[in-house]
Amino acid sequence: MIAYFNNDFIDKDLVRISPDDRGFLLADGLYEVLRSYGGKLFRAADHIARLNYGARHLRLSQGDFSYLVPVAEELLRRNGLAEAEATVYFQVTRGAAKRTHAFPAQPPPLTVYGLPSPFDAQAMLRRMESGVAAITLPDQRWARCDMKTVGLTANVLANQAAHEAGAAEAILVRDGVLIEGTHSNFMAVFGGTLVTAPTSNYILSGITRKAVLELCARHGVPVELRPIYASEFHQAEEAMIVGTTVEVTPVLTVDGRPVGSGRPGPVARRLQELFAAEVGRPWPQG
Ligand code: PDD
Repeated sequence: MIAYFNNDFIDKDLVRISPDDRGFLLADGLYEVLRSYGGKLFRAADHIARLNYGARHLRLSQGDFSYLVPVAEELLRRNGLAEAEATVYFQVTRGAAKRTHAFPAQPPPLTVYGLPSPFDAQAMLRRMESGVAAITLPDQRWARCDMKTVGLTANVLANQAAHEAGAAEAILVRDGVLIEGTHSNFMAVFGGTLVTAPTSNYILSGITRKAVLELCARHGVPVELRPIYASEFHQAEEAMIVGTTVEVTPVLTVDGRPVGSGRPGPVARRLQELFAAEVGRPWPQG
């Protein structure tokens, strides 16, 4: 694969990241995962805006990472993915310097890395069609989940626990609220209304979440932005996870208990249909 590394396009195997890199030593950096549909990046400007936001708040950079959009397109081209379903991963760290907790006295150049991958859309579409299981776990992450930092230890452990339980996702619970998944946002349906947590420092402001909420507004699907309490969840008619790699995937059981009918519900199906139109995919699936 051809990767992007500090202003160059080079063979991925030739990328040399310093052991002093603060991303490696301290998880002092940010990442993004973009989706490309047939070579067209999905809402790239939103991903860049989130990266810029994180970079400002981490005090990595006041700059604008918009230049990564043509980089992503070039990565897709150079790797023969211009027509394919793919993801593009970017990571930006504070760079390589002698290990100190405080920022290096002489700021090193940022480390900027990008790599595309083919995306198995068929596997995702099967899960979107069938629905998945989820478990709940205490949210053990820090209090700045609005920044997409590479420090994912709590997400990794929770996602592994989900896998070991035969579930696709762990929904993280903080103060009695079903906040979001380890790599997706969480939504539920009560009385026909789509409910999801408002943006805050406790969730990642998902690009898919934003797209889904816009589609709801445009197509008259009622929405309420408020916390989903664990204590009310037994009344939910539907639940779903939304994200770059899951799009809109119905959650059929949580902790082994069925949600609503235990089958993908009408709101999830409607959102899948609207999302398919948004990304130019035929609907219904063949
Ligand atoms: N994760 N919440 C968390 C904690 C996430 O890690 C993600 C995405 C989302 C959904 O955001 P978006 O719609 O912008 O993908 C919500 C990426 C895909 C990942 O870590 O691989």
